[in-house]
Amino acid sequence: MERTFIMIKPDGVQRHLVGEIVHRFEVKGFTLVGLKMMKVSRELAEKHYDVHKGKPFFSGLIDFITSAPVIAMVWEGENVVTAARKIIGATDPISADPGSIRGDFGVSIGRNLIHGSDAIETAEREIALWFKDYEQVGWEPVRHSWLYE
Ligand code: RTP
Ligand code: MG
Repeated sequence: MERTFIMIKPDGVQRHLVGEIVHRFEVKGFTLVGLKMMKVSRELAEKHYDVHKGKPFFSGLIDFITSAPVIAMVWEGENVVTAARKIIGATDPISADPGSIRGDFGVSIGRNLIHGSDAIETAEREIALWFKDYEQVGWEPVRHSWLYE
């Protein structure tokens, strides 16, 4: 089953939106298979955002991600990578649709609350970067046959 990497950024934690954000993925029908709270090192943040190295916002982004704790998660479900990006909304919260997390709770691109992997290959890379195998717990939710035909 497909998995994706989701991180509640420092602003989401500081604004006490952890429960709200986790709830949105749960009620949609996805399964939580990994979760940890952590203060991110600069080394990990720079590896995670490697594709943005050299861009004008890069150092501010690394400062922000390392400024306070984050919640790192792995979520599982059919097409979860694409669906999670929709639940999260567009990068700039001002352009994000109402009903999405960024659309409902954000106003600024540098404080957009949450990260989600942008493709299946990215998800595989990010999950391997953030989680050890034993930190991911596969389990069979009893609601499965009520979610999938
Ligand atoms: P993320 O990786 O954090 O889930 O966000 P994303 O895919 O929607 O956006 P991405 O293009 O990967 O950008 C990563 C993060 O960098 C910040 N950013 N700032 N000032 C700017 O023009 C700018 N562009 C990007 C955002 O915080 C974005 O989430
Ligand atoms: Mg991205």
